[in-house]
Amino acid sequence: MAVVIAVDGPAASGKGTIARALARHFGLPHLDTGALYRAVALAAARERIAPDDEDALGRLAARLDLTLLEDPMLRSAATAEAASRISAHPAVRTALLAFQRSFATQPGGAVLDGRDIGTVIAPEADAKLFVTAAPAVRARRRWLELGAPGGEEGLATVEAEIAARDARDRDRDAAPLRIADDAILLDTTDLDKDAAVRRAIDHVVDRLGPAS
Ligand code: C5P
Repeated sequence: MAVVIAVDGPAASGKGTIARALARHFGLPHLDTGALYRAVALAAARERIAPDDEDALGRLAARLDLTLLEDPMLRSAATAEAASRISAHPAVRTALLAFQRSFATQPGGAVLDGRDIGTVIAPEADAKLFVTAAPAVRARRRWLELGAPGGEEGLATVEAEIAARDARDRDRDAAPLRIADDAILLDTTDLDKDAAVRRAIDHVVDRLGPAS
């Protein structure tokens, strides 16, 4: 089925899990666009490019080594933090735009998740979801994913990091995190993974009709 599904939302909202489940359910390829920004951040750290050197970061993003998407450091808190800084640069976003657009417009359809999929990358998507959850719930999920480092203090650190990242993603000028006008809001605060995925699938089926 050649449909395009856009899944956006703040850090640790469950959008990645939902996007992967939608891709599996509807038999579509999936792109985690956050991983692209993380890969640029990782490459920049290794090449000692400063987070405020927009020109160098833009050039780096344009020749991004996609094998970095498999790097175990991609998921670290430090990489997430650096990704949220470098992703505010228009030159970085522009360099990654064509790859994401061509993924979104491939003939068989696709699922993409990120911050600006429904607004910038695939504004014509057939179904758009904006996934969110209460900040404390998102922080706990991410902290557990990271192996619950540092006890309650560690949890507070993760919550602060997520809040800072959300604020940067929301407040930047270039493609800020916002809900597309035609997206539905999926709040996963009180939902477990299976219930959240079920809701997401139901929404897409509603949008596309029963033939899906
Ligand atoms: O989704 P994830 O946490 O992996 O994203 C890492 C960072 O990449 C985000 O905090 C955000 O700043 C940036 N990002 C973005 N646009 C996207 C996806 C991610 O700016 N479409």
